[in-house]
Amino acid sequence: MRSSLVVQEVLKQISKTLENKIPRASREAQLLLMHHLNVDELWLITHQESRVSEYDKLMELVERRAQNEPLEYITKRVSFYSQEFYINSGALIPRPETELLIDTVLHNVKDTTAYLTFVEVGVGSGVISIVLAQHFKNAKFIATDISQAALDVAAKNIEKFHLQERIELRLGSLLDPIEEQCDYLVSNPPYIEDGVHLESNLSYEPQNALFGGEVGDEIIKKLLDIVLSRKINYFTCEMGYDQKDKITNYLKECNYKSLSFYKDYSDFDRGFTLEVEH
Ligand SMILES: C[S@@+](CC[C@H](N)C(=O)[O-])C[C@H]1O[C@@H](n2cnc3c(N)ncnc32)[C@H](O)[C@@H]1O
Repeated sequence: MRSSLVVQEVLKQISKTLENKIPRASREAQLLLMHHLNVDELWLITHQESRVSEYDKLMELVERRAQNEPLEYITKRVSFYSQEFYINSGALIPRPETELLIDTVLHNVKDTTAYLTFVEVGVGSGVISIVLAQHFKNAKFIATDISQAALDVAAKNIEKFHLQERIELRLGSLLDPIEEQCDYLVSNPPYIEDGVHLESNLSYEPQNALFGGEVGDEIIKKLLDIVLSRKINYFTCEMGYDQKDKITNYLKECNYKSLSFYKDYSDFDRGFTLEVEH
């Protein structure tokens, strides 16, 4: 009986299940059905009377969404910098504000043909290194993560964009697995204070991608120490909206060329670039 439902009826059914549980229920109903049928938006609009197969399987996905599991983990797709990446619960879902970290690097280094070595700490799904590699055609990237599950997601995306020759993944903490000299360090490290109560959808994401220690900025400070001691030219890093003063104070007695902060789309402080003196 249920398998004979057609697209428009199924959309209504899904929207009803999701309404009052998540925002944009009818839009997400479309996205879930498109994912289930492996069709695009145009097909959905033009096939309102087509039958939907495997209805029960579809409703299992809808139930997961009703429990507030992020849509990206259900569809295994995420959009970042106008491209589609693979994602699963082994890696943090890339956030729109992290696109600003990319823009900041592009602002700092105008010569996109330069033969640079970039290092990324905490590569997660790989989006930062991949998008930077697409812009800096001659650059080489070494990216670390403490999570093998995250590195597996990154490897899948690196393969998707055919960048295996230029992005190397290494399992390990911070820059421990890296002896090479590098020109530019980028990172979106975990920076939330341990124990902070987060919204329920965040409980589906890897916790070691979110929490940065008792205060929150511990990993950022360790990275600052490494950048200064290894004399890495540039370091661009995402941070918590309330960490600007702590980072500025931490660097008070240090020798560096410049320190500049950038804001996110909501006008919160969100990251910085440290340029080191040589
Ligand atoms: C906030 S996520 C960022 C992921 C991805 N770069 C992005 O922007 O979407 C932080 C990542 O850092 C990794 N991580 C946490 N502690 C680390 C450490 N000490 N060394 C290297 N990576 C670490 C986590 O596993 C996670 O993948």
